[in-house]
Amino acid sequence: MKQCSVYAGPARIGPVPDELYGGFVEHLGRNVYGGVYDPGDPSSDENGFRTDVMKCIRDLSMPVTRYPGGCYTDTWRWEDSVGPGEFRPVRLDPQWRQKEPHRFGLDEFIRWCRLVKTEPVITFNLSTRGILEAEELWEYCNFPGGTTLSDRRIRNGAKEPYNIRYWCLGNEIYGSAVGRRSAAEYAVLARETARIIRMHDPEAHLIVCGNPFDPDWNRTVLKECAPFVDFLSLHRMFDDRDGNYLLLPEVFAAEIRRAGALCEDVRRRLGLRHRIRIAVDEWILYDHKRRERPGEAWTVGPHLLEQDYTVTDALLAGALLSMFQNHCDKVALACIAQSVNVIAPIRTEKNGVLWKQSIYDPLRCSSRYGRGEALKCRTRGASAAGLYASSVWNPRRRELVFFLTVRAGTPVRVRLAWEGVPPLGAARAVSLHSCDLTKVNSPGSEELHAERFEDVRTVPGGAEAVLPPFSWTMIRFKQFSKNEVSS
Ligand code: AHR
Repeated sequence: MKQCSVYAGPARIGPVPDELYGGFVEHLGRNVYGGVYDPGDPSSDENGFRTDVMKCIRDLSMPVTRYPGGCYTDTWRWEDSVGPGEFRPVRLDPQWRQKEPHRFGLDEFIRWCRLVKTEPVITFNLSTRGILEAEELWEYCNFPGGTTLSDRRIRNGAKEPYNIRYWCLGNEIYGSAVGRRSAAEYAVLARETARIIRMHDPEAHLIVCGNPFDPDWNRTVLKECAPFVDFLSLHRMFDDRDGNYLLLPEVFAAEIRRAGALCEDVRRRLGLRHRIRIAVDEWILYDHKRRERPGEAWTVGPHLLEQDYTVTDALLAGALLSMFQNHCDKVALACIAQSVNVIAPIRTEKNGVLWKQSIYDPLRCSSRYGRGEALKCRTRGASAAGLYASSVWNPRRRELVFFLTVRAGTPVRVRLAWEGVPPLGAARAVSLHSCDLTKVNSPGSEELHAERFEDVRTVPGGAEAVLPPFSWTMIRFKQFSKNEVSS
């Protein structure tokens, strides 16, 4: 057995933004058609929204959801996706080789967001469209009324403006399949789009497209856009063919620190008051197989990127969320890509069949219990034990939570201690673990889920736990009530 220790606090990293636990609904494969939207399925409501999916999204407690892409946005004409369904055009989406009937569009997405209590993050198409179309989209969504576009929204059934706050200035435009641009070209386009949106809404949260692997791109874009934007986006795919798969949180953390330092540097040079923070508005566990089924090309909602997640993926998801908590002074928003069926925690089939993948519980627990203030964790022996740790103090619940991922085949005896929080009492823990790293969940069999975990005991000055090999564990310590402390 390996031994290690984790000391949380008293130093704090900062408040954990709720937006770290976001999702993503792209018109890609069966994320929308057959996932979120499945009219005629017994599990769907009068809108055609799958109620079983909505229940899970609420359970995952996703404060923000990005839409409608992704690469899909490269050819998205937003006007196609509003108004009466029967008049909406059917088009081809060259990126994903699928047919897009627009039966679920912007208006439906906003309705769905309200029902599942998530805030929309909308991507402008800056690949094949431009500044004016972005402005028009803003006007349709957010202007109260009395203009052609805002009145069109009202006629389409939405009297109140959508009040969308988060906007992405394009998507991965450095590598778009269609409409790719150089850093210099994109920087000017994004700057001008940001400026016009700011004229309408000085408080808008604008996300400019960064490139995780190209600091020059990021510098060029930030130099132009920093005065007008709030976030630099970094998309990151974690490929399970990589030999270091489970160590990728540390690798990505270094990339985040570099990008954070660049944002600070540009801010200082330009003398800006506001900070630019990082939006990981796509983080993806992805083995790059399209998994396209024969005969499904150019159909509506083909099976694409439907990946079965294993134990290893659950550990990676858990450790990544811990890593975001540990960098919450730099990362202000993160969206798992994606929410349903497509590289996603939730999978569906017809007739109300739904199952939760291995990554579901680490996402759910991190989102539900990882809110508050992230404490700095100092560790001893953690790397040798393969342990990744984070800790969040929730002042409202008066609860200290540890998130602990063991990425090795040996159990770990961990000593937990904390400083700078009021006295804490009993522990409650859940853990997901298996030495069969290839195990996956399937319809009717959700063996991979977080179960009650008893191997934690409080000791003077902290607690001790024996964590299973290949495990993701969440331990919550609850503060004594006044009576309990004095008795
Ligand atoms: O999430 C799947 C795809 O991955 C998105 O469309 C794209 O933005 C990213 O490269």
